[in-house]
Amino acid sequence: MPRSTSVHVCSACGHESTRWAGRCSGCGEWNTLVEHVRALGGRGRGPRSAVARSTGGAAVKPVALRDIDPAEQTRLSTGIGELDNVLGGGIVPGSLVLLGGSPGIGKSTLTTMVLANLLQDGRRTLYVSAEESAAQIRLRAERLRAGALGIPVIAETDLPTVLATLERERPEVCVIDSVQTLHTAELPSAAGSVAQVREVASELMAVAKARRIAVLLVGHVTKDGTLAGPRVLEHLVDCVLQFEGERERTYRTVCVVKNRFGSTNEAGVFEMRDDGLVEVLDASARFVGEATRAPGSVVLCAIEGSRPLLVEVQALVSRSELVPPRRVVSGLDRNRLALVLAVLGRHAGVGAGTADVFVNVVGGVRVDEPGADLAVALAVTGAVRGVALSGGDGQPLACFGELGLTGELRSVAHADRRVAEAAKFGLGPVVEPGAHRTLCAAIAHAFGGRRDALAA
Ligand code: TYD
Ligand code: MG
Repeated sequence: MPRSTSVHVCSACGHESTRWAGRCSGCGEWNTLVEHVRALGGRGRGPRSAVARSTGGAAVKPVALRDIDPAEQTRLSTGIGELDNVLGGGIVPGSLVLLGGSPGIGKSTLTTMVLANLLQDGRRTLYVSAEESAAQIRLRAERLRAGALGIPVIAETDLPTVLATLERERPEVCVIDSVQTLHTAELPSAAGSVAQVREVASELMAVAKARRIAVLLVGHVTKDGTLAGPRVLEHLVDCVLQFEGERERTYRTVCVVKNRFGSTNEAGVFEMRDDGLVEVLDASARFVGEATRAPGSVVLCAIEGSRPLLVEVQALVSRSELVPPRRVVSGLDRNRLALVLAVLGRHAGVGAGTADVFVNVVGGVRVDEPGADLAVALAVTGAVRGVALSGGDGQPLACFGELGLTGELRSVAHADRRVAEAAKFGLGPVVEPGAHRTLCAAIAHAFGGRRDALAA
């Protein structure tokens, strides 16, 4: 009689099937099914009918929600305001938080800082490093505030050892760095495979819930921005945070992809300094202050999470030697640039033609929202025409709005808050869909009524 059974799990959508196939019947992706071996429990003896299965357990009586005692939710403050905010008020005891981000973005730094703060508050903590040696973690901690050197660490990649240590130490908050490098010998697949990552996370979850240990799982992100392997984890954990930005840049944002205990509309801005990550509370002021006001530069009134944020968008249009010419974006969606260039060419007579076009959101901030379209369009137009756009009083021009394919300006969410944020820094009037119905009208206004802005 077999002691184990195998299922095939899709690494893209988590769909399970009993047989391997080239294509997942759940999401239609090719070559995504990975074998997952499960040990059989005492009762796993072949198929049984639904009726037979239903006779196995004792029935329980459902209770109305109002009669359920709300568990007291004392949250643990991470000591980092921006992060507490993103988490919905702090870490919920016994919860699983997944922190994703590309290598070098600062995941280990942030989690070490969190543990140092909790330790100072008298909480029991544990740092499990399955990636770096204890000596490497010490080197990092030395750069951070003094308290970081008190954090108990283990450098361990074996899951059962980690689970046993958790059972014995019973920390209140534990960091697993990273979920892809822990591994259990019970499964034949390599560390980081879908089967391993699922097993590691579900075993950790069982201990976390039973012992009320809050677990911060660090996860890597592949180049295309998805969590490597553990997409399946998103269903399992209580909260998914995403660390965004580029490691060469100073500013990074932490945003919420999922949160069972709070809103997904929050985001925090951080700056990497020599002594760790620092919250940036006045991000708009900095970006506006640093805006160049040169041809090709405008200020976008963006929304990061639920907060308005002013960021500078820069464009450079230059003669190309390449066919096809380059279209390079940073901090924006590349396809959105293609759309904006097409609308500009067709409806406003502003053609980039065979020139290279570079568009950049300054500071390493990522703005993935259609509200950025107008900023890209105005920055490119300014760059093509070589005209510096000004919002009056020598201030940079502020704008936002989505472009429709017929050249219309479409409204976007939180318009009033975007305008209010611009006004706070003395920018205005803002070029936006509430004031202008079409891209042409917006360009004409931004260029102070100069008709040559529109004519090619
Ligand atoms: P790290 O937290 O190791 O990134 P991750 O765990 O996401 O891979 O840190 C990333 C970078 O940050 C690293 O290149 C060094 C730099 N850094 C600082 O600039 N200041 C600091 O205080 C620390 C600890 C790191
Ligand atoms: Mg790390």
